[in-house]
Amino acid sequence: MEEAYKAGKVRAIGVSNFYPDRYLDIVHFSEVKPAVNQVETHIFQQQKVAKEYMKKNGTQIMSWGPFAEGKNDYFNTPALKEIGAKYGKTAAQVALRFLLQSGVVLIPKSVHKDRMEQNFDIFDFELNEDEMKKLEALDTGESLFFSHHDPKTVEWFMSII
Ligand SMILES: NC(=O)c1ccc[n+]([C@@H]2O[C@H](COP(=O)([O-])OP(=O)(O)OC[C@H]3O[C@@H](n4cnc5c(N)ncnc54)[C@H](OP(=O)(O)O)[C@@H]3O)[C@@H](O)[C@H]2O)c1
Repeated sequence: MEEAYKAGKVRAIGVSNFYPDRYLDIVHFSEVKPAVNQVETHIFQQQKVAKEYMKKNGTQIMSWGPFAEGKNDYFNTPALKEIGAKYGKTAAQVALRFLLQSGVVLIPKSVHKDRMEQNFDIFDFELNEDEMKKLEALDTGESLFFSHHDPKTVEWFMSII
């Protein structure tokens, strides 16, 4: 990737699922630092520590699974619905706005045109400090999927290559 970057074939290098330990490893041992690191990030797993290290080393955090793929009854989270009612926005839009205001780049997925439009429509309102704090409090610091540090998960990934 560094060779492609130096040859001008790519404009930036992005990586995915580099959590703080492996992220610091690649930052330390690479010549061209990752511009972006895509990691599981949503209201229940806000990646507060990972985000801090990425910021310190000049990498933009990008969220995969900004809705946790609907897990935890995501779209019925009371705090998201209550805040959304105030602004005339859905729980999904409040969740995306929260991540955006937290400095996270987002790639929500939908196969429905109306939802894609809804997911773009988050630039005409702003969450206040109390609302941000309320949503920050939902963080468990845990994955809703799996740990990339678990050797069993790594073995499973290897099996699908
Ligand atoms: N780098 C990695 O390791 C990694 C891992 C996982 C995913 N990703 C990427 O991350 C992106 C995000 O996708 P994701 O699949 O992880 O999940 P996600 O964006 O967290 O959630 C997608 C789910 O939310 C629903 N949804 C979307 N917008 C909605 C809305 N406004 N209201 C209600 N429901 C809504 C979708 O249903 P409908 O589609 O039916 O609307 C779908 O079931 C994708 O581009 C994916 O490729 C990367």
